[in-house]
Amino acid sequence: MKKLLSFLTLLAFAIQIQAKDLPRVIILATGGTIAGAGASADRAGYTAGKIPIDDLIGAIPSVKKVANITGEQISSIGSQDMTIDIWQKLAVRINQIYANKEADAVVVTHGTDTQEETAYFLDLVTPSDMPVVLTGSMRPATAISADGPKNLYDAILVAIDPKTKGKGVLVSFNEGVYDAREVMKLSTTKVEAFGSPNSGPVGQVYDGKVEYYMSSIREENSKMPFKITADTKLPRVDIVYMYADAPSDMIDMLVAKKVDGIVIAGVGNGNFNKTYMDAVKRAVAAGVIVCRASRTPSGRVVLEDEINDDELGTIVSDDLTPQKARIMLMLGLTRTKDKKQLQNYFFTF
Ligand code: DGL
Repeated sequence: MKKLLSFLTLLAFAIQIQAKDLPRVIILATGGTIAGAGASADRAGYTAGKIPIDDLIGAIPSVKKVANITGEQISSIGSQDMTIDIWQKLAVRINQIYANKEADAVVVTHGTDTQEETAYFLDLVTPSDMPVVLTGSMRPATAISADGPKNLYDAILVAIDPKTKGKGVLVSFNEGVYDAREVMKLSTTKVEAFGSPNSGPVGQVYDGKVEYYMSSIREENSKMPFKITADTKLPRVDIVYMYADAPSDMIDMLVAKKVDGIVIAGVGNGNFNKTYMDAVKRAVAAGVIVCRASRTPSGRVVLEDEINDDELGTIVSDDLTPQKARIMLMLGLTRTKDKKQLQNYFFTF
Protein backbone atom coordinates (compact mmCIF):
# COMPACT_ATOMS: atom_id res chain seq x y z
CA MET A 1 0.00 0.00 0.00
CA LYS A 2 2.87 2.31 0.99
CA LYS A 3 4.57 1.64 -2.38
CA LEU A 4 1.34 2.45 -4.26
CA LEU A 5 0.91 5.70 -2.35
CA SER A 6 4.48 6.83 -3.01
CA PHE A 7 4.11 5.86 -6.70
CA LEU A 8 0.91 7.92 -7.00
CA THR A 9 2.54 10.85 -5.20
CA LEU A 10 5.50 10.69 -7.58
CA LEU A 11 3.15 10.44 -10.58
CA ALA A 12 1.13 13.45 -9.43
CA PHE A 13 4.36 15.39 -8.91
CA ALA A 14 5.62 14.43 -12.38
CA ILE A 15 2.32 15.50 -13.97
CA GLN A 16 2.51 18.77 -12.05
CA ILE A 17 6.06 19.42 -13.28
CA GLN A 18 5.09 18.54 -16.85
CA ALA A 19 2.02 20.82 -16.68
CA LYS A 20 4.22 23.67 -15.42
CA ASP A 21 6.28 23.51 -18.64
CA LEU A 22 3.26 23.58 -20.97
CA PRO A 23 2.51 26.82 -22.87
CA ARG A 24 -0.07 29.06 -21.18
CA VAL A 25 -3.13 30.00 -23.24
CA ILE A 26 -5.84 32.41 -22.18
CA ILE A 27 -9.15 31.97 -24.01
CA LEU A 28 -11.21 35.16 -24.26
CA ALA A 29 -14.82 34.14 -24.98
CA THR A 30 -17.29 36.50 -26.66
CA GLY A 31 -20.17 34.09 -27.47
CA GLY A 32 -21.18 32.95 -30.94
CA THR A 33 -22.48 29.66 -32.24
CA ILE A 34 -19.52 27.81 -30.75
CA ALA A 35 -21.23 28.59 -27.43
CA GLY A 36 -24.67 28.11 -28.94
CA ALA A 37 -27.40 25.88 -27.53
CA GLY A 38 -30.33 24.60 -29.55
CA ALA A 39 -33.56 22.80 -28.66
CA SER A 40 -32.69 19.76 -30.78
CA ALA A 41 -29.51 18.27 -32.22
CA ASP A 42 -30.86 17.88 -35.73
CA ARG A 43 -32.46 21.27 -36.40
CA ALA A 44 -30.79 24.64 -37.05
CA GLY A 45 -32.61 26.73 -34.44
CA TYR A 46 -30.37 27.76 -31.52
CA THR A 47 -29.30 30.72 -29.40
CA ALA A 48 -25.70 31.92 -29.73
CA GLY A 49 -23.50 32.65 -26.72
CA LYS A 50 -25.33 30.49 -24.15
CA ILE A 51 -22.56 28.06 -23.07
CA PRO A 52 -19.83 29.44 -20.79
CA ILE A 53 -16.17 29.14 -21.80
CA ASP A 54 -15.30 26.65 -19.01
CA ASP A 55 -17.82 24.20 -20.49
CA LEU A 56 -16.30 24.67 -23.97
CA ILE A 57 -12.84 23.91 -22.55
CA GLY A 58 -14.29 20.92 -20.69
CA ALA A 59 -15.47 19.50 -24.04
CA ILE A 60 -11.82 19.10 -25.18
CA PRO A 61 -10.12 17.41 -22.19
CA SER A 62 -7.14 16.22 -24.25
CA VAL A 63 -6.02 19.85 -24.71
CA LYS A 64 -4.68 19.74 -21.15
CA LYS A 65 -1.85 17.55 -22.47
CA VAL A 66 -0.59 20.35 -24.73
CA ALA A 67 -1.34 23.62 -22.91
CA ASN A 68 -2.34 25.21 -19.62
CA ILE A 69 -5.69 26.78 -20.43
CA THR A 70 -7.68 29.43 -18.58
CA GLY A 71 -10.87 31.03 -19.84
CA GLU A 72 -12.35 34.52 -19.43
CA GLN A 73 -15.89 35.46 -20.45
CA ILE A 74 -15.67 38.88 -22.15
CA SER A 75 -19.24 38.80 -23.54
CA SER A 76 -21.95 36.30 -24.44
CA ILE A 77 -23.40 37.49 -27.74
CA GLY A 78 -24.07 36.43 -31.30
CA SER A 79 -21.39 38.30 -33.22
CA GLN A 80 -24.01 40.15 -35.27
CA ASP A 81 -24.26 42.11 -31.99
CA MET A 82 -20.51 42.75 -31.74
CA THR A 83 -19.68 46.32 -30.68
CA ILE A 84 -16.71 48.68 -30.78
CA ASP A 85 -16.87 48.67 -26.99
CA ILE A 86 -16.25 44.89 -26.90
CA TRP A 87 -13.48 45.31 -29.50
CA GLN A 88 -11.80 47.78 -27.16
CA LYS A 89 -12.25 45.47 -24.15
CA LEU A 90 -10.61 42.63 -26.12
CA ALA A 91 -7.74 44.85 -27.32
CA VAL A 92 -7.04 46.27 -23.84
CA ARG A 93 -7.10 42.78 -22.26
CA ILE A 94 -4.82 41.27 -24.94
CA ASN A 95 -2.32 44.12 -24.54
CA GLN A 96 -2.46 43.66 -20.76
CA ILE A 97 -1.82 39.90 -21.10
CA TYR A 98 1.15 40.70 -23.34
CA ALA A 99 2.58 43.43 -21.09
CA ASN A 100 2.21 41.31 -17.92
CA LYS A 101 3.40 38.10 -19.63
CA GLU A 102 0.27 36.35 -18.31
CA ALA A 103 0.20 33.88 -21.21
CA ASP A 104 2.18 32.70 -24.22
CA ALA A 105 -0.83 33.03 -26.56
CA VAL A 106 -4.46 34.09 -26.67
CA VAL A 107 -7.43 32.38 -28.34
CA VAL A 108 -10.66 34.31 -28.91
CA THR A 109 -13.90 32.37 -29.36
CA HIS A 110 -16.27 34.45 -31.46
CA GLY A 111 -19.31 34.23 -33.72
CA THR A 112 -18.53 33.86 -37.40
CA ASP A 113 -20.69 36.71 -38.73
CA THR A 114 -18.25 39.48 -37.77
CA GLN A 115 -15.20 37.41 -36.83
CA GLU A 116 -13.21 38.82 -39.77
CA GLU A 117 -13.80 42.38 -38.52
CA THR A 118 -12.77 41.66 -34.93
CA ALA A 119 -9.70 39.77 -36.16
CA TYR A 120 -8.62 42.69 -38.34
CA PHE A 121 -9.28 45.31 -35.66
CA LEU A 122 -7.21 43.34 -33.13
CA ASP A 123 -4.48 42.78 -35.72
CA LEU A 124 -3.99 46.55 -36.01
CA VAL A 125 -3.97 47.35 -32.28
CA THR A 126 -2.14 44.42 -30.60
CA PRO A 127 1.52 43.32 -30.76
CA SER A 128 2.10 40.75 -33.50
CA ASP A 129 4.68 38.75 -31.55
CA MET A 130 2.10 37.23 -29.21
CA PRO A 131 -0.12 34.80 -31.12
CA VAL A 132 -3.81 35.73 -31.10
CA VAL A 133 -6.05 33.18 -32.85
CA LEU A 134 -9.79 33.56 -33.36
CA THR A 135 -12.15 30.68 -33.94
CA GLY A 136 -15.81 29.76 -33.72
CA SER A 137 -18.18 27.29 -35.27
CA MET A 138 -21.03 27.00 -37.74
CA ARG A 139 -22.95 24.41 -35.72
CA PRO A 140 -24.04 24.95 -32.11
CA ALA A 141 -22.44 22.89 -29.34
CA THR A 142 -25.68 20.88 -29.06
CA ALA A 143 -25.81 19.91 -32.77
CA ILE A 144 -25.01 16.57 -34.46
CA SER A 145 -21.31 16.75 -35.53
CA ALA A 146 -20.75 20.08 -33.80
CA ASP A 147 -17.61 21.66 -35.31
CA GLY A 148 -16.81 23.86 -32.29
CA PRO A 149 -14.72 21.47 -30.14
CA LYS A 150 -12.37 20.57 -33.01
CA ASN A 151 -12.08 24.22 -34.09
CA LEU A 152 -11.25 25.26 -30.52
CA TYR A 153 -8.71 22.46 -30.11
CA ASP A 154 -7.08 23.35 -33.44
CA ALA A 155 -7.03 27.07 -32.62
CA ILE A 156 -5.12 26.29 -29.40
CA LEU A 157 -2.63 24.16 -31.37
CA VAL A 158 -2.14 27.03 -33.84
CA ALA A 159 -1.73 29.53 -31.00
CA ILE A 160 0.98 27.52 -29.19
CA ASP A 161 2.90 26.46 -32.30
CA PRO A 162 6.32 28.23 -32.30
CA LYS A 163 5.91 28.95 -36.06
CA THR A 164 2.86 31.16 -35.32
CA LYS A 165 4.84 33.80 -33.40
CA GLY A 166 5.13 37.03 -35.42
CA LYS A 167 2.21 36.25 -37.76
CA GLY A 168 -0.17 38.67 -36.05
CA VAL A 169 -3.83 37.82 -35.52
CA LEU A 170 -5.07 34.69 -37.28
CA VAL A 171 -8.38 32.89 -37.80
CA SER A 172 -8.29 29.12 -37.42
CA PHE A 173 -11.40 27.43 -38.81
CA ASN A 174 -12.25 24.02 -40.26
CA GLU A 175 -8.54 23.10 -40.48
CA GLY A 176 -7.62 26.27 -42.39
CA VAL A 177 -5.47 29.08 -40.93
CA TYR A 178 -6.15 32.57 -42.29
CA ASP A 179 -4.45 35.97 -41.99
CA ALA A 180 -6.69 38.53 -40.25
CA ARG A 181 -6.30 41.10 -43.05
CA GLU A 182 -7.22 38.61 -45.82
CA VAL A 183 -9.92 36.43 -44.23
CA MET A 184 -13.65 36.77 -44.88
CA LYS A 185 -16.77 34.70 -44.28
CA LEU A 186 -17.73 33.13 -47.61
CA SER A 187 -20.58 30.77 -46.67
CA THR A 188 -23.71 31.56 -44.70
CA THR A 189 -24.21 28.00 -43.38
CA LYS A 190 -21.38 25.62 -44.38
CA VAL A 191 -18.67 24.52 -41.92
CA GLU A 192 -16.13 25.54 -44.59
CA ALA A 193 -17.24 29.06 -43.80
CA PHE A 194 -14.08 31.14 -44.27
CA GLY A 195 -11.62 31.86 -47.07
CA SER A 196 -9.21 34.53 -48.31
CA PRO A 197 -10.16 35.22 -51.96
CA ASN A 198 -7.04 37.29 -52.70
CA SER A 199 -4.41 35.11 -51.07
CA GLY A 200 -5.80 31.79 -49.82
CA PRO A 201 -5.11 30.39 -46.34
CA VAL A 202 -1.65 30.94 -44.83
CA GLY A 203 -1.61 27.45 -43.32
CA GLN A 204 -3.37 24.25 -42.33
CA VAL A 205 -3.92 22.50 -39.02
CA TYR A 206 -4.61 18.76 -39.16
CA ASP A 207 -4.05 15.70 -37.00
CA GLY A 208 -2.44 17.84 -34.31
CA LYS A 209 0.07 19.48 -36.63
CA VAL A 210 0.27 23.09 -37.91
CA GLU A 211 1.90 23.81 -41.27
CA TYR A 212 2.34 27.26 -42.88
CA TYR A 213 2.65 27.79 -46.65
CA MET A 214 2.32 31.58 -46.95
CA SER A 215 3.10 34.68 -44.91
CA SER A 216 1.57 38.17 -45.18
CA ILE A 217 3.85 40.96 -46.45
CA ARG A 218 1.49 43.53 -44.97
CA GLU A 219 1.86 41.81 -41.57
CA GLU A 220 5.59 42.45 -41.75
CA ASN A 221 4.84 46.19 -42.22
CA SER A 222 2.27 46.47 -39.46
CA LYS A 223 3.68 45.84 -36.02
CA MET A 224 0.82 47.36 -34.03
CA PRO A 225 0.45 50.49 -36.21
CA PHE A 226 -2.29 51.95 -34.00
CA LYS A 227 -2.60 52.18 -30.24
CA ILE A 228 -5.91 52.40 -28.40
CA THR A 229 -6.89 52.45 -24.73
CA ALA A 230 -10.20 51.87 -22.96
CA ASP A 231 -10.84 55.61 -23.26
CA THR A 232 -10.09 55.98 -26.98
CA LYS A 233 -13.11 57.45 -28.73
CA LEU A 234 -13.03 55.94 -32.19
CA PRO A 235 -14.17 58.12 -35.11
CA ARG A 236 -17.46 57.19 -36.73
CA VAL A 237 -17.11 55.59 -40.17
CA ASP A 238 -20.08 54.07 -42.01
CA ILE A 239 -20.46 51.98 -45.17
CA VAL A 240 -22.81 52.76 -48.08
CA TYR A 241 -23.53 50.03 -50.62
CA MET A 242 -23.68 50.93 -54.34
CA TYR A 243 -26.14 49.19 -56.69
CA ALA A 244 -27.94 49.97 -59.94
CA ASP A 245 -29.78 53.30 -59.83
CA ALA A 246 -28.94 53.90 -56.14
CA PRO A 247 -30.15 57.30 -54.82
CA SER A 248 -27.84 59.50 -52.70
CA ASP A 249 -30.10 59.53 -49.60
CA MET A 250 -27.78 57.40 -47.43
CA ILE A 251 -24.67 59.50 -48.19
CA ASP A 252 -26.53 62.77 -47.58
CA MET A 253 -27.97 61.41 -44.32
CA LEU A 254 -24.48 60.47 -43.06
CA VAL A 255 -23.10 63.89 -44.01
CA ALA A 256 -25.95 65.50 -42.09
CA LYS A 257 -24.99 63.31 -39.10
CA LYS A 258 -21.44 64.68 -39.39
CA VAL A 259 -19.77 61.26 -39.58
CA ASP A 260 -15.99 61.30 -39.82
CA GLY A 261 -15.72 58.90 -42.75
CA ILE A 262 -17.76 57.06 -45.36
CA VAL A 263 -16.68 53.87 -47.13
CA ILE A 264 -18.47 53.31 -50.43
CA ALA A 265 -18.90 49.60 -51.25
CA GLY A 266 -18.74 50.43 -54.92
CA VAL A 267 -19.35 48.25 -57.97
CA GLY A 268 -16.37 46.81 -59.82
CA ASN A 269 -13.26 48.91 -59.32
CA GLY A 270 -14.98 50.99 -56.62
CA ASN A 271 -17.25 52.75 -59.12
CA PHE A 272 -20.58 54.50 -58.51
CA ASN A 273 -23.24 56.40 -60.43
CA LYS A 274 -23.45 60.14 -61.09
CA THR A 275 -25.92 60.56 -58.21
CA TYR A 276 -23.32 59.14 -55.81
CA MET A 277 -20.59 61.19 -57.46
CA ASP A 278 -22.44 64.45 -56.66
CA ALA A 279 -23.19 63.27 -53.12
CA VAL A 280 -19.53 62.31 -52.59
CA LYS A 281 -18.53 65.80 -53.69
CA ARG A 282 -20.90 67.22 -51.05
CA ALA A 283 -19.43 64.86 -48.44
CA VAL A 284 -15.83 65.78 -49.25
CA ALA A 285 -16.73 69.47 -49.19
CA ALA A 286 -18.21 68.93 -45.73
CA GLY A 287 -14.88 67.48 -44.53
CA VAL A 288 -15.90 63.79 -44.56
CA ILE A 289 -13.13 61.37 -45.61
CA VAL A 290 -14.57 59.18 -48.39
CA CYS A 291 -12.90 55.87 -49.23
CA ARG A 292 -13.73 53.91 -52.39
CA ALA A 293 -13.94 50.15 -51.69
CA SER A 294 -15.73 47.46 -53.69
CA ARG A 295 -18.59 44.99 -53.15
CA THR A 296 -16.62 42.65 -55.47
CA PRO A 297 -15.17 39.93 -53.17
CA SER A 298 -11.67 39.89 -54.68
CA GLY A 299 -9.16 42.21 -56.33
CA ARG A 300 -8.24 45.77 -55.39
CA VAL A 301 -9.61 49.26 -55.96
CA VAL A 302 -7.12 51.24 -58.04
CA LEU A 303 -6.49 54.97 -57.70
CA GLU A 304 -7.24 57.19 -60.74
CA ASP A 305 -8.75 54.41 -62.91
CA GLU A 306 -12.35 55.17 -64.00
CA ILE A 307 -12.62 57.77 -61.21
CA ASN A 308 -10.26 60.73 -60.80
CA ASP A 309 -9.66 60.48 -57.05
CA ASP A 310 -7.41 63.51 -56.97
CA GLU A 311 -10.19 65.67 -58.45
CA LEU A 312 -12.99 64.03 -56.41
CA GLY A 313 -11.00 64.09 -53.15
CA THR A 314 -11.42 60.37 -52.42
CA ILE A 315 -8.97 57.69 -51.27
CA VAL A 316 -9.11 53.98 -52.11
CA SER A 317 -9.22 50.83 -49.95
CA ASP A 318 -6.59 48.94 -52.00
CA ASP A 319 -7.69 45.28 -51.59
CA LEU A 320 -9.50 45.66 -48.25
CA THR A 321 -13.18 44.73 -48.22
CA PRO A 322 -15.58 47.55 -47.27
CA GLN A 323 -15.99 46.19 -43.73
CA LYS A 324 -12.20 46.18 -43.23
CA ALA A 325 -11.65 49.49 -44.98
CA ARG A 326 -14.03 50.94 -42.38
CA ILE A 327 -11.76 49.62 -39.59
CA MET A 328 -8.58 50.93 -41.22
CA LEU A 329 -10.18 54.35 -41.73
CA MET A 330 -11.55 54.47 -38.15
CA LEU A 331 -8.10 53.73 -36.72
CA GLY A 332 -6.27 55.91 -39.27
CA LEU A 333 -8.48 58.85 -38.28
CA THR A 334 -7.31 58.48 -34.67
CA ARG A 335 -3.95 59.70 -35.97
CA THR A 336 -4.63 62.06 -38.87
CA LYS A 337 -7.21 63.57 -41.26
CA ASP A 338 -4.55 64.10 -43.91
CA LYS A 339 -5.70 62.16 -47.00
CA LYS A 340 -2.21 61.40 -48.26
CA GLN A 341 -1.27 59.89 -44.89
CA LEU A 342 -4.55 57.99 -44.67
CA GLN A 343 -4.04 56.64 -48.20
CA ASN A 344 -0.53 55.57 -47.20
CA TYR A 345 -1.93 53.52 -44.31
CA PHE A 346 -4.10 51.59 -46.80
CA PHE A 347 -1.09 50.92 -49.04
CA THR A 348 1.25 49.98 -46.17
CA PHE A 349 -0.46 48.02 -43.37
N1 DGL B 1 -25.00 33.93 -34.74
C1 DGL B 1 -23.95 34.30 -35.66
C2 DGL B 1 -22.71 34.74 -34.91
O1 DGL B 1 -22.68 34.63 -33.69
C3 DGL B 1 -23.53 33.23 -36.62
C4 DGL B 1 -23.28 31.93 -36.03
C5 DGL B 1 -21.84 31.64 -35.75
O2 DGL B 1 -21.25 32.05 -34.72
O3 DGL B 1 -21.30 30.99 -36.61
O4 DGL B 1 -21.79 35.21 -35.58
